[in-house]
Amino acid sequence: MYRARTLHRIASGRRVFDLRSDTVTKPTEAMIREMAKAEVGDDVYGEDPSVNALEDRVAQIMGKEKALFCASATMCNILSITSLLAIPPRSLPSTSFHGPPYSVACDYRSHLYLWEAGNLATFGHATTIPLRPRNGLYLNHEDIAQQVWRPGDVHVAPTRVISLENTLDGLIMPLKTMQRMYQQAREQGHWVHLDGARLWNSSVATGTPMAQYGHCADTITLCLSKGIGAPIGAILAPQKTIEQARHYRKLLGGGWRQAGGLAAAATRALLDYHERMSRDHHHAQLLGKGAVEAGWKLALPIHTNMVWMEGKHILQGRGWTSKALEDHFLKQWGIRVNGVDAQGQMRCVLHHQVRLEDVQVMIRALADLSK
Ligand SMILES: Cc1ncc(COP(=O)(O)O)c(C=O)c1O
Repeated sequence: MYRARTLHRIASGRRVFDLRSDTVTKPTEAMIREMAKAEVGDDVYGEDPSVNALEDRVAQIMGKEKALFCASATMCNILSITSLLAIPPRSLPSTSFHGPPYSVACDYRSHLYLWEAGNLATFGHATTIPLRPRNGLYLNHEDIAQQVWRPGDVHVAPTRVISLENTLDGLIMPLKTMQRMYQQAREQGHWVHLDGARLWNSSVATGTPMAQYGHCADTITLCLSKGIGAPIGAILAPQKTIEQARHYRKLLGGGWRQAGGLAAAATRALLDYHERMSRDHHHAQLLGKGAVEAGWKLALPIHTNMVWMEGKHILQGRGWTSKALEDHFLKQWGIRVNGVDAQGQMRCVLHHQVRLEDVQVMIRALADLSK
């Protein structure tokens, strides 16, 4: 069922490849072998040796004491933040006590704010404050200092957690910026969560060890089923909140039993992601360059594995809907793409199952469309 070879072909026999997301990869043969021979046990009892090995490995990578393997990055984000909201703030000025609800400050484009089905409101009983980075790329400590809600004002739900995302839309938040924000958060009594679903990409692109990012946050989400390429799973690396997060995972129905097969696939993927991801980043640069040469404009700089192009003019020029554009790429070229979004942009995501020749096909398809 998992064979990439068969899934990557359409009836004509032509190879189909997928640029919609890095979540679409299929497990490799090596991962499937590891899954088949994984030792398993009941993870709710903490008795799955393959899960325990993965959690230990990731905690070590991140410089944290513990990690918790979960079904998805969405689950890791909600467990992390609700756990931080459940413990007392870093410092509590006695004159300005507020009970819940609290607020979570994050970038206005962050996954947590836009694409997690409002779970913070439902489970976290918290509201989000979407912040705009003034440099147009990533938040910094000044953006946060000016826009968070402080206790002492009866009109607001005071900010308890700052949630960062790195990479965000493929953009890297520099380590120094994160360090400065974390220092400020500590001074102002905020907890910091890092949605690092694609932190691996930042680390590979900049050469920064993951643990250095790990020191800039109290809880961290790392996805294993995006650029890393594992079939399922994400992991959170909390410092103080592991038991709280484990409890909330159970509450949400996320306490799983013999999950070791999935953990074994992820552990295998962690052995050689560096080289694969460097290639993805190189492919993104090639695609971006080819797109520009073919007359397309880039909507954002390319830092890692995402290429954002302006696409509204193509729809307008041809009188197409976004769906028609997707159909065109699939039928004419065998490429699955996201259409043009509400902002008029088309996102292409490189991953380890996109080859160099696929990138060349995509560039030809882009050139053909801009004729
Ligand atoms: C930055 C970021 N965080 C979290 C998620 C959620 O991941 P999942 O699909 O594993 O819930 C995504 C998904 O694309 C993401 O891009």
